[in-house]
Amino acid sequence: MTSGQRPPDISRFISARQPAAQVDPQSLDQLGQLVRSALQTRRFRPPLLPEVAARLSRLVEDPDVDLATVEKTVVKDPAVAARIVAVANSAIHGARAPVTSLRSAIARLGLYRVRDVAFQVVAMGKVFRVPAYADRMRELFEAAQVAGVLARAVSDACGGASEAAYLCGLLHDMGEASVLGIVADAFATRQASLPAVEFLAPMIAEYHAELGALVCSEWKLPDVVVEAVAWHHTPEQATRVGSLAPIVAAADLLLGHIGMGTAWHPVTKADLPVLESAGLTAERIGPLLRYAEEIAADRQSWVMSAP
Ligand SMILES: [Fe+2]
Repeated sequence: MTSGQRPPDISRFISARQPAAQVDPQSLDQLGQLVRSALQTRRFRPPLLPEVAARLSRLVEDPDVDLATVEKTVVKDPAVAARIVAVANSAIHGARAPVTSLRSAIARLGLYRVRDVAFQVVAMGKVFRVPAYADRMRELFEAAQVAGVLARAVSDACGGASEAAYLCGLLHDMGEASVLGIVADAFATRQASLPAVEFLAPMIAEYHAELGALVCSEWKLPDVVVEAVAWHHTPEQATRVGSLAPIVAAADLLLGHIGMGTAWHPVTKADLPVLESAGLTAERIGPLLRYAEEIAADRQSWVMSAP
């Protein structure tokens, strides 16, 4: 961690319905070794990426792709197709006259947003899916969607308008689900109670970015996404030209500002270096903070709830 960067502080969000067992230092160390071993041996099995998302990831790279091909891809996955129509009709996304056909919905959203919606469905059904930590998964999924919106807003405000910004924000903390999945699997055969998330926070802080990047890499997502997820807490280590790690780091601060997925931590002057290194000028920061606050005040309109 560098100055201005905080490890995720999630203690405020641990509800009574989540595992509450304490964990002794020795067990914590063993769990850490388990996660480290999963990373080093790459034996960790990431969630399978559904075909529709994998194919859309490839189609966005094809400058000659046509609407019919995208429709043919999306229609094979009813959950994604339904979500695309719903998003296209959402007032948040600027819907005017309602669309009823999948093709019109795809045309309204455009290919990149269609891909993003597919990954939103993947995030809900495949990523933030550790039943033993269901409440935390709901919090993470809600925060992930808002992180995507905020990363896109930061990217737009910096003049970059990267088409990958939403995806980076959406997936940036998915490694926490991976850490919790490894812990839950380890405890599945033990008599001991599952440790509370708050006791795992140091381990999550240490490994989640690397694990998340590993999943992105296994999914063959573009390098810009893998790198942003890997370095979102240490964006100064990102060496790629046009790296989105500083954008995601700034979006992460905005998430803290509204207390989503992490402890409430209003942005202060001390956070300016992170925001400025993302490319935000002083006059852009205020509107972004207000935008984040508007989302927090009306979050039901912005996020898809997990079942
Ligand atoms: Fe993070």
